[in-house]
Amino acid sequence: MPIEAQPLTGVFAAEVHGLDLVNLDGDDLAQLRALMCEHEVLVVRGQTLDPSQQSAFSSRLGPCGEVPFIATMDEFPEVIRVVKEAEEGAAFNFGGAWHSDFSFQAEPPSFTILSAVDVPAWGGDTCFASMTAAWNALHEPMRERLRQLNAVHSARDAYSPKMQALHTGMSGMQIVCDESANEYEIHPLVPVHPETRKEVLYFNRAYVRDIENMTNDEAESLMAFLHLHTTDVKFMYRHRWQAGDVVIWDNRSTQHVALNDYAGFRRELRRTTIAGESPKR
Ligand code: SIN
Repeated sequence: MPIEAQPLTGVFAAEVHGLDLVNLDGDDLAQLRALMCEHEVLVVRGQTLDPSQQSAFSSRLGPCGEVPFIATMDEFPEVIRVVKEAEEGAAFNFGGAWHSDFSFQAEPPSFTILSAVDVPAWGGDTCFASMTAAWNALHEPMRERLRQLNAVHSARDAYSPKMQALHTGMSGMQIVCDESANEYEIHPLVPVHPETRKEVLYFNRAYVRDIENMTNDEAESLMAFLHLHTTDVKFMYRHRWQAGDVVIWDNRSTQHVALNDYAGFRRELRRTTIAGESPKR
């Protein structure tokens, strides 16, 4: 039976109904993967996966990605608990700047799976932007210029030792900054998505810290433009979490941000990432 995906905006993101992610057969899994690539963000409600079920489902999509800087669950080294306690108020908000997961790696993750365990009564939404739609909205002369460029991705302003103090105050998550965050990877600004073969803008302001072969001023103004352009509401889907939701996104064609507007409420989600490949033109 074909899996039906109901669009959630006129641009990208869709919800699929009637799926049990724990007991997917091979045909359903292949269809789901195709839908993940096509819609870029897929919402599957009513799942309540435990960590071993999330891990098992994730591993059917591919080997788990390497998880730097963030302590994972003891028994499940591929699972991160994304948690902020009710009393932590303005404590550091994990994922609180627009980013694509671990884009500073040589082979950044292909997909991320986030499942909701405990959600605030209101707030704590996650916003996603389609980098395919943002790319398609540019005029060809601009696209031709961007196709020539490489971006410098680094975790230095998130996880280098100077950032350690920012990560204190979280009781449910342990983030360990180290010097390796000062390393960088160069990725094309406009790679071709390895599964859809579409061009995408591979940019996020959290980890893209420079553009190759530009002066500082040139790079800063291009990055400011790309950030403003790609985070325009017209390329966005905003997910309002319910316990039991599983949201799967394609890191190669989206960026996202977690909102920090739920002081007084607890929020816990579990995250797994699937290994990807080096972005290529
Ligand atoms: C993340 O950036 O992976 C976490 C997103 C969220 O907590 O909504």
